[in-house]
Parts: sequence; C-alpha cells; structure tokens
Amino acid sequence: MNVLPLIEAKRDGLVLSAEQIQALVTAFTRGAIPDYQMAALLMAVYFLGLNADETRALTFAMRDSGDVLTFPKDSSRPVVDKHSTGGIGDKVSLPLAQLLACLGFRVPMISGRGLGITGGTLDKLESIPGFRTRLSVGEIVKQVEEIGCVMCGQTETMCPADRLIYALRDVTGTVPSIPLITASILSKKLSEGIEALVLDVKFGSAAFMQTREQARELARTMAQIANESGVKTRALLTDMNTPLGRAAGNWLEVKESVECLEGRGPEDLRELVIECAASLLEQTGRCTDLPESRSRAAKVLASGEPLRKWDQMLAAQGADLPAYRHQLQAVDTAPVVLELKATRSGFITRCDARVIGEVIRDLGGGRLTKEAVIDPRVGVDALKKPAEAVHVGDILCRVHAASQDAADQALARLWSAFIVADTPPLECAVVHEVI
Ligand code: URA
Repeated sequence: MNVLPLIEAKRDGLVLSAEQIQALVTAFTRGAIPDYQMAALLMAVYFLGLNADETRALTFAMRDSGDVLTFPKDSSRPVVDKHSTGGIGDKVSLPLAQLLACLGFRVPMISGRGLGITGGTLDKLESIPGFRTRLSVGEIVKQVEEIGCVMCGQTETMCPADRLIYALRDVTGTVPSIPLITASILSKKLSEGIEALVLDVKFGSAAFMQTREQARELARTMAQIANESGVKTRALLTDMNTPLGRAAGNWLEVKESVECLEGRGPEDLRELVIECAASLLEQTGRCTDLPESRSRAAKVLASGEPLRKWDQMLAAQGADLPAYRHQLQAVDTAPVVLELKATRSGFITRCDARVIGEVIRDLGGGRLTKEAVIDPRVGVDALKKPAEAVHVGDILCRVHAASQDAADQALARLWSAFIVADTPPLECAVVHEVI
C-alpha cells in the first residue's frame, strides 16, 4: 500500500474515507507500513484531529483487526463492562466486576497495565500471588459463562492494531489525542461483544484530560460512537485532582478493594462502584430509575456475595489462596513504612493526585520504561482527603517503600501534594456530570 498520499492528505487537513482508513489499519497490522510513516500520520492526526466519520472508521477498523468475543444469547444476563480513562488510586474495576456478576450481568473485563503515572488493573491483579491475567479467548468466554466475570489482559489475537498503534503513540508523543484515545479504548471494548458500557472519564491533574471541557469532549465522542455501534453507553465525568480512596499502589489498592467488598473502605470508592453498577442496571433496562438502581446495587454490595464472587474468581484464575490470605492479613508488606504528619491544624484543601502518582511511579509502583518491573508492595495509604480536618501531628499519609532511602525521598516529595488551610474547600462530588 502506498501510504504517502494519506499522510499528505492528513497533513493538509483533508478527510480520509472509511475505505482508506480500513486499508491503512489492515496494512499496518500485517507489517506492510513502516513505523516512521505511521508515526508521521499519527502526528498529523494529533495536530489536526479526525472528524466523527473518520474516528468511527478508525475505531471499527481497529476492532476488526482481531477476534471479537461472542457469548451465547441469554437476555436475562446482559454482557456489560466499564472502562476508566485512568487515574491514581482508581481501583473501581476490582469490586465492580464482582458486584455486576452478582447483579446477574456477564462481565468480560479486559483491562490494561499502568500508563504514564496512572495505575493499571492488570498490575494490581498481578500483585495477588499466582493470579493469571493471560487467558485465551476460550477461557474468557467459559469463565464468564460459569462464574459471571473475568478480569484479564487482551489476548494476542484481540485488537492487534491497537497494540501496535498504541506502542508507537507511546514513544512519539501522540497519546493525548481525543480521536486516537477514542479509537484505542473503544476498539478494545467493542471487541468484547458487550451490549452496555459505562465509561468513567476522568479530568484533573493526574488524568489524560486535564480540564473538564476536554473530558466532556472525549466522553461525548466515545459515547456517540459506542452508542451508534449498538452498545448502550453512558459516560460519568469524575474528578482526578485527588486520588480515589485512601490508598494508591498495586497491592495496597487490592487491599482497599477487598475492604470495599467487605462493606468497609472509603466512601468515594463505594459511591463510584455503586454509581457504575446503577448506571448499567438502568442502561440495560433492568431497573427503571436511578435511585432504585442505586439501592439495589448497594444492597447486593453489602450482602457479602460480591466478596465470595471475588474469591471464586481468584480461584478460577489460579491464585494461590493461602498465600493471598496471608498477604492480606499482614499489617504491611513493604520493607519500610513511614508517616507524613501535619505540621499545622486546619482543613485539607489539596491532596494532589499527580504528585502522589509520580512518587509512586518512582518508588517502583509504575513504569518509566516499557520493560520496567513493578514492585507491587510500594505506594501510599492512609491518605487524608480534601475537606477533612487535621491537627498538628495527624497522619497525612503513609509511604510504603522498598528501602529507607526511597521512603525518605518519597516523604520529602509528598509534602508538596498537601495543602492545609484555615477553611475547608467546597465539598466535591464524586460524579460531576453524566453524558
Ligand atoms: N487507554 C487506552 O487504552 N488507550 C489510550 O489511548 C488511552 C488510554
């Protein structure tokens, strides 16, 4: 394929046809277009964008580059999923998949690894001893049919175009582009064979979309294309200036997710889990109004059933349950744990997710290079959050590190994440807008 006319057309702001985009994606996936030409095209898209038709064509071409899951027809058990654009402490998927399975949904939750400073569901799950995240298409469908949910990574044969294009975007500065993010996320979600999807689109200091306006545009673009393709989709705009919950870091987030499944844990996490589940109940017509959906989701979450489902899922995916329980009961698993204490009294007005995310990544909880190995034990917990009162000597957070040096350095940097003032900020909602 001669891709040069397509690069020139995009450079000059012209529109590509669906056939041209399909041919481009097919050729790139089979290795017939060199990276440097694809990179040039991606950069042209980054600067000049894609219109709605082009974005839709790119999404569908990427979805169709590999296998699409199919599930046996069963209208009493809709196939659904949730996707977050990523943040710090965002562990919603872990309790949510179990809750949805207990609400009668089938949930093929295919997740990714951390990107930039944002955490990834697969990295969190891999902090559980023995847990397998690489499953075949056959195993995914079987587990979803049998226990209602699966949490795993993309198979080799699902959306290969996204894997190749994403790797190139990552090293060419072309990740933060609304049409490219839309096609990347939706191609993967649409290949799960789902009938409804809830999107958690984050804005703020630690999100891909820094402003609410950008997040709204991304949410509208994704919701429109997903709905047009027959997947009932809704997007929640949520804040990522502050981490979600009180813990960030792979294993610490698994622990906090288990607390949520036990009916404990932070209120903002519980609220977002319930909002996502309630939205899917309504989107699939299983409840007719949101208050009823919320109370049904809250009741099932409190019943203990999703916690049993979690254990069932861990066993099905090979987790070493005695080792996992031992790890769960341990007070702390990192070699060094230090406390950051308030030096003045007042109200927290900032607990900055970007600073905290960068500190965790540098402690070894995230990746600076693609090959980097994650340390699942490191992170930050016991976070104090905006609007909470503190007194001199109160713990603002605890840092979990692999060594004393790393912990000291992290503690010094974490000071800048917090602001304590005389008056509290206006309380922030968890969900700011629904699209
Ligand atoms: N997550 C993805 O899967 N793709 C993107 O482009 C951004 C976030």
